[in-house]
Amino acid sequence: MRIEENVVLAPYTTFKIGGPADFFCTVTTKKDLEKAIVFSKEKKIPYHILGGGSNMLIADSGFRGLVIKFVLRGFIWKELNSKSVLVTVASGENWDAFVAEAVSRGVYGVENLSGIPGSVGGTPIQNVGAYGAEVADVIESVTAYNTETLVFQNFSNKECGFGYRDSYFKTAEGKRYIVIDVTFLLEKEGKFNLSYKDLTKYFTDRGVAPTLASVRAAVLEIRGKKFPDLQKFGTAGSFFKNPIVHKRDAERLKKQFTDMPMFSVSENKIKIPAAWLIEHIGGFKGIESNSVGSFENQALVIVNYDKARALDVLEFAHSITEDIFLKTGIRLEREVQLLGF
Ligand code: EPU
Repeated sequence: MRIEENVVLAPYTTFKIGGPADFFCTVTTKKDLEKAIVFSKEKKIPYHILGGGSNMLIADSGFRGLVIKFVLRGFIWKELNSKSVLVTVASGENWDAFVAEAVSRGVYGVENLSGIPGSVGGTPIQNVGAYGAEVADVIESVTAYNTETLVFQNFSNKECGFGYRDSYFKTAEGKRYIVIDVTFLLEKEGKFNLSYKDLTKYFTDRGVAPTLASVRAAVLEIRGKKFPDLQKFGTAGSFFKNPIVHKRDAERLKKQFTDMPMFSVSENKIKIPAAWLIEHIGGFKGIESNSVGSFENQALVIVNYDKARALDVLEFAHSITEDIFLKTGIRLEREVQLLGF
């Protein structure tokens, strides 16, 4: 394992933004991971684990520490019984390649999560979700490395503390862990989950019966329209989380903004699509400023159209949050993780 100095991070992120890390290494084994952590402890510098770089915004000035590009590979498929399959996937595997493999093996559970960029190791941390499914629904357990005690630990699904785009691994205490592998419980005779509006419409319009392959194709087609081509532009997907408000605030808002879509998440909690607020309250959809814009087909997706700086992205995001707050009292929270600020 070689530790390089002054490595520009932009090419390692899907946003294509970010200055240099003081130190950078690529780690492919558990042993080298330990060496890298020990290096950062000895130098008394922070470390950051980089997976697919698909959900982060890195400062223009970079990161004063060690960035560890962690690419542990491998799959272990195991038939649990006549109904279920357990698969342990190393954190450095590409998420969508795993979904494609599960679909081609005919096992259910991750097909709705097709086309999401990034690596498997990042998915439990922010409980990745799309089209009515979340990884929390299919995660059996997670193996993680404790960077304080230098031991490997197993977390059951419950111990991962999953919530909407949230988990134990995002807490102050949980941040000391590095995800090593994730074990998924998939079904051989599962049911399709087509409840998400766009998917229901896709299958009713075409009048075709869903199969694992056709659900994957549907999700890829729907996503393809809502996200910019990652080969052409930089983006980290949804920039904000969908806000969850108290029912009484939702009722107040509904009187003022009668078209506002709302989804009940529990007895007193209502989720409001951030994309709707950005488009209909803020009027930012399709707007571009300093090479940063809200995507014309999905307002929640913030795009780096051409060499935007992190500062430009944050300024654009700030103008959105301020505007929405002034008009509705809702504070949008970032979904994208920051590094180096
Ligand atoms: N809408 C608008 N304008 C837009 C887009 C959407 O008004 O430009 C409204 C519509 O009412 C629509 C609603 O917002 O029904 C929801 O939009 P969409 O179905 O596109 O999903 P989303 O809530 O904006 C979430 C996830 C995405 C995930 C999609 C699909 C979050 C923060 N985002 O977006 O996840 O792909 O659902 O399930 O929960 C990500 O986390 O990075 C991500 C891309």
